[in-house]
Amino acid sequence: MIALAGRVVGLDIGSRNVRAVLAEARPDTGVGGNQAILGHGRAEARGVEGPDIVDPAALSAAVRDAIGGAEEVAGREAEAVCVGVPSHHVRSWMFESAVDLGGRPVSERHLLRLQTRAAEGTLPHDRRVIHVWRHHYSLDGTEVDDPLGHKGSRLRARMRVFAATSRVCGRLAQVVDRAGYTLDALAMGSIAAAGAVLGRAETASSTALISVGASACDVLLFADGRIQHAAAIPWAGESMSRDLSRGLGVPLEVAEQAKLDHGFAMLEPEDSDVRVPVGEGPNGQPRRVSRALLVHIIQERFDEILNLAKKEIGDAGEASRIVLSGGGVMLPRTERLAQDVFGGNRNGGVAIRVGVPRSEVDEMSSPAWATAAGLAQYGAERRRPRGLEGAGNALSRAGQWLREYF
Ligand SMILES: Nc1ncnc2c1ncn2[C@@H]1O[C@H](COP(=O)(O)OP(=O)(O)OP(=O)(O)O)[C@@H](O)[C@H]1O
Ligand SMILES: [Mg+2]
Repeated sequence: MIALAGRVVGLDIGSRNVRAVLAEARPDTGVGGNQAILGHGRAEARGVEGPDIVDPAALSAAVRDAIGGAEEVAGREAEAVCVGVPSHHVRSWMFESAVDLGGRPVSERHLLRLQTRAAEGTLPHDRRVIHVWRHHYSLDGTEVDDPLGHKGSRLRARMRVFAATSRVCGRLAQVVDRAGYTLDALAMGSIAAAGAVLGRAETASSTALISVGASACDVLLFADGRIQHAAAIPWAGESMSRDLSRGLGVPLEVAEQAKLDHGFAMLEPEDSDVRVPVGEGPNGQPRRVSRALLVHIIQERFDEILNLAKKEIGDAGEASRIVLSGGGVMLPRTERLAQDVFGGNRNGGVAIRVGVPRSEVDEMSSPAWATAAGLAQYGAERRRPRGLEGAGNALSRAGQWLREYF
């Protein structure tokens, strides 16, 4: 056995929240999902502005709080951390590479070599590879789904390589180190979230995952098990609160609270006669605002964000299913707004649902935990012991979910 099993924290550093999920890898039983979730913790993000780390010391303290919270729930300490890189700092490229087999059957070592070659391809020098996603194999010119064990002379692969700026990788490593933990892996947050909320059949068909956080909305389009497109839109939940702050003339935090207490993603006729309290007037009395106005402001922005996501998807292909995740989609009526934008759930249109990570813990059964849960799952899978055969083979240490696609 390789001595890598252990307790891994999936660490999702967002612009508003830092979330940590502590999971334990269990020995390989040949079935997916062999991790136990031991605990989870959350802290308000500090030292970040949007996707940028501006104060590593402040962020380290927030990371310590979030992981400390997860450790307290678990009653165990974390041994390693798998941290998500915000998509703003990640770009993807398509690469092709090939290996000579000399008539031998394709082994995992060959697949690893293809992956390494793609990763070493002509990336800008200031980029570091964090994911390699297989799109296509061909063995002596014939397309094959799973080449393992097939004999031939030359295996080619086409793959999408995700690479983050070295600067953000360095900063994240520094933050985790300063918080007193060991960084084990970097991963793209939205891909990790997909691992937590999308079923296998969904990634195998045309499915788009739209993750709406506070400052960014990530779009991933899957088709035939491939990642067809990845995009980041720089607006999300906080943009709605900022619009409210301007539109209602109240401080941002008051607007944020009003959104959480009284907001909906879309207007319905029953909202028209209702007035809701938003902050205080000059003499400390509650200020009342028309709910229709509040919801209208939110809807304008949310509709724009979803339409931008729709354009990203439409330019790259098509989706028969839309899955929504991230804290921003917790606004009531989000699914209904998405149905309006994407023409879903009616007459055989696009199927729309909110993606929630599978968890026995109630609080974690929320779209806001998708990325942290996915990072924990991915990090734990990487470290799962899988017997002598896998020892020393880096590919066999890659996440089970990731391995299935490479
Ligand atoms: N119950 C709720 N109703 C409506 N909106 C909510 C709710 N809970 C959280 N949000 C919104 O979700 C956003 C935070 O989501 P999340 O925690 O996923 O963001 P983040 O990961 O910190 O940000 P990002 O990934 O964009 O950097 C905030 O804008 C917040 O207002
Ligand atoms: Mg986020």
